[in-house]
Amino acid sequence: MLPHPLITIVGALSKQGRSVAHALLESGRYRVRALTRRVNSLEAQRLASVGAELVNVPLELGYKQAMIEAFTGSHGVFLMTPPIAPPATHEAELGMELANSAVEAGVEHLVFSSLENVDEVTKSQKFAPHFTDKAKIEAYIRTLPVRSSFIYLAFFYTNLLEYYTPRMESDTLVFPIYLPRDFHAPFVDPLSATGPAVLEIFSYPEEYAGKSMPVIGDILSPDEIVSTFTRVTGKKAAYRSAYTREELLHHFPDFVANELLMRELLGMAEYATEYGYYRKERDLSWSRKINPNSLTWEKFLRVTGWQGQPQSFGV
Ligand SMILES: NC(=O)c1ccc[n+]([C@@H]2O[C@H](COP(=O)([O-])OP(=O)(O)OC[C@H]3O[C@@H](n4cnc5c(N)ncnc54)[C@H](OP(=O)(O)O)[C@@H]3O)[C@@H](O)[C@H]2O)c1
Repeated sequence: MLPHPLITIVGALSKQGRSVAHALLESGRYRVRALTRRVNSLEAQRLASVGAELVNVPLELGYKQAMIEAFTGSHGVFLMTPPIAPPATHEAELGMELANSAVEAGVEHLVFSSLENVDEVTKSQKFAPHFTDKAKIEAYIRTLPVRSSFIYLAFFYTNLLEYYTPRMESDTLVFPIYLPRDFHAPFVDPLSATGPAVLEIFSYPEEYAGKSMPVIGDILSPDEIVSTFTRVTGKKAAYRSAYTREELLHHFPDFVANELLMRELLGMAEYATEYGYYRKERDLSWSRKINPNSLTWEKFLRVTGWQGQPQSFGV
């Protein structure tokens, strides 16, 4: 009997990568090679204990040969780019180097975690390079002699746990949110939603060749985020706007240290609000159709038991 196809995952300990590794291994139909700098971490060891092969390669520029070696023998590769804060601007270059390495290693199918081209959609009116750079990587991958598919994750629920954390003001948990209170935006749990989407794509490669698929768990407003939190946890909570520069700085004064990052966060939120997070033609129901265990915000709160405390997903 032939061995199961091997899928190599870059950023295998990231929220997205971890989800992909577990979903592929749980399916029983794939072998997984997990790339990380932290092969001795608890999370890496957890992956190894369920069958992943760990390989120590950093998700950085300048490791092309190591990447080619790591990709060799793989049927497929899941590529993602890590958070890269300005003034660093190497996201597009990194993504292209990863894709070139996969092609040189003879990989048959690339799945890349991409996003919309904000520069193109807004005619350069909004500044969100971490979207546009992913779109540039996607456009480049489409020129390569390899089958490719793309997923576009919605805003992560986990942003409220990791980055824009709520804080107590007298008896109320205050949520400073980067979107206007009544704007309905797509959100997702990257830890449980990425894997099923990527498993579906590798399972039906011809159907998804050249396709860009949104991955969404819920579409809801910040007001609904807060009222659902109160309904599920019983805790008194309130929305506060962190949508404008002044509001963002009021709630997160540390952002003053990186003016460009602040511009990028504001640009991203304005883009989503004024133009829509996804282009009109995207299929917003796909990920929820193919994944019956998809988490709405309410289910996310019930499953995780999150009570409003800061949480880190590093390991
Ligand atoms: N937050 C959102 O709402 C949202 C929505 C859509 C898309 N995204 C995109 O999702 C991506 C982040 O995904 P995630 O949250 O799943 O990642 P994550 O949990 O923050 O993990 C980042 C991974 O990147 C690696 N990494 C980070 N910095 C590195 C460095 N300096 N050198 C080498 N490796 C580094 C780490 O690998 P090691 O294991 O080696 O440490 C880690 O596994 C970003 O590109 C972001 O733009 C975010």
